[in-house]
This record gives sequence, structure tokens and C-alpha cells, in this order.
Amino acid sequence: MTRTAIVTGGTRGIGAAISTALKTAGYNVVATYAGNDEAAQKFREATGIPIYKWDVSNYEECAAGIARVEEEYGPVAVLVNNAGITRDAMFHKMTPGQWNEVVNTNLNGLFNMTHPVWSGMRDRKFGRIINISSINGQKGQAGQANYSAAKAGDIGFTKALAQEGARAGITVNAICPGYIGTEMVRAIDEKVLNERIIPQIPVGRLGEPEEVARCVVFLASDEAGFITGSTLSANGGQYFC
Ligand code: CAA
Repeated sequence: MTRTAIVTGGTRGIGAAISTALKTAGYNVVATYAGNDEAAQKFREATGIPIYKWDVSNYEECAAGIARVEEEYGPVAVLVNNAGITRDAMFHKMTPGQWNEVVNTNLNGLFNMTHPVWSGMRDRKFGRIINISSINGQKGQAGQANYSAAKAGDIGFTKALAQEGARAGITVNAICPGYIGTEMVRAIDEKVLNERIIPQIPVGRLGEPEEVARCVVFLASDEAGFITGSTLSANGGQYFC
């Protein structure tokens, strides 16, 4: 039976590359998005991948959305928690709003999306949860106390849940992309990007979204069944841990 995969934030950036790669690999893919209707429609037209709109920071919306997806496409076998936002500011300028928005989406979103699929995966004795964390959750980043904290939390979540899922055939892994050439990274001030960030990447360039997507396809596969609780870095050599 064709497996169903949900990719959150799956219509743009790294998420769009993940959705497309999973479709090419033979999954029934559903992509979710939160805000940008125009980009989502364009993505659907270009790829034929169905799109659903809900906010991963809202538990009820996630539970209802997942129920609709499962009714239409069958049980979720693969969940890619990719949706993420930045609200960068040096800490002395960071507002409670900037902190909460990032933590609610980038960390609480993982609980909200994973909890509704977890029991079904346990019952069926199969599941793949792939959490897109970040290099900045591993090493910390000035200007991103909110984002770094949330992304580090994603790694802790991955490690705890991997232990719970192992006996039920569920693997839970994190991928930590470095700086990838998406809108999110290109939104960084050009001077900061060129003078402070790119020089720190030994391969000398930003990553491509497809380079992250290929990691997801591997971790989702049957062949990756012995890999769980891991943190896979894809960062051009910028940070080793
Ligand atoms: N370490 C220590 N100090 C730093 C620093 C660093 N890495 N970066 C900047 N500073 C210092 C500056 O030198 C400056 O000090 P002075 O005032 O004494 O000169 C001070 O902090 C303020 O810096 P800015 O002028 O840059 O401050 P700003 O308010 O204009 O901008 C910022 C702050 C928006 C956070 C900006 O610095 C920035 O965009 N930084 C990049 C943050 C970043 O890497 N974001 C990643 C986004 S992509 C992503 O998140 C995807 C992923 O997973 C990788």
C-alpha cells in the first residue's frame, strides 16, 4: 500500500523540496501551510500535491486537519515536522511576542502535529517522524535566542520520543540543516550573510533544499529502520557535533 506522508510547511523552501522528493519516491504526499495562499496554490498547480491550510501552533487545528487527511488519504505513515519561522533580534531587543511566536511554531508545533498521529503509528507498528531542527539549535546563534532554544528543544523531543517509539516500529530522527538558500536565509541582511555567515561555511556556499530533502527520503525508508534518535547534520561543514 502506498504510504501517506505529511510535510508541514511543505509548500515553500526546504519543505517544498521535501514534499516533491517524497512524491518522487512514491509516497502519497500532503503538504500543509499556514499563511501564503498564493505560494501554496502555485505549488499545488506545479506538483499536483494536495495542500491543507492550518497553523501548527494550534493543537485543535492540527488534530482536525490530520483527521481530514487520514479520512482522504489513509493513515499517516510519515510525518515531517518542517514548519518553522524566524523572528530574529538581539536578545536585549527581543519582545515576548517574538519569543512566543517562534517557540509556539518551532517547538510546540512538533507536539501538536506528532501527538495526533502517534497512537495510530503505535497501533500499526510503523511510523517515521522526521523533525527539521537546525544548526542553530546545535550551536546557538546570536540574534536567535528564541529560534535556537526551540530548535534545541526539537532535538530533545526527538531523542525522548525515539526511545518511546522504538518497540512500536516508529523511528524519530532530527535533521539539522545549516544555511540553505531559501527565502528565510535570503531575508538575512545581505551584508550579514556575505560577511559573517557564508565565510563560516567550509564548502563555501549555501546548501540546496534538495540536499536536505534527500536526507528525509532516506530516513523515511524501510532501509533506515535501525536509525532512530539521531541528529543528521547537513551544514557544509559549518559545525560538527
Ligand atoms: N556574535 C556576537 N555579537 C554579534 C554577532 C555575533 N554572531 N552578530 C552581531 N553581533 C553584534 C554586532 O557586532 C553589533 O554590536 P555593536 O552594536 O557593538 O556593533 C550588535 O551585535 C548588533 O548587531 P546588528 O547591527 O546586526 O544588529 P541588528 O539589530 O541590526 O540585527 C540581527 C540583529 C537581525 C539578529 C542580525 O544580526 C542578523 O540578522 N543576524 C543573523 C542571524 C541569523 O543567523 N539568523 C539565521 C536566519 S536563517 C535560519 O534561521 C535558518 C537556519 O536554521 C540556519
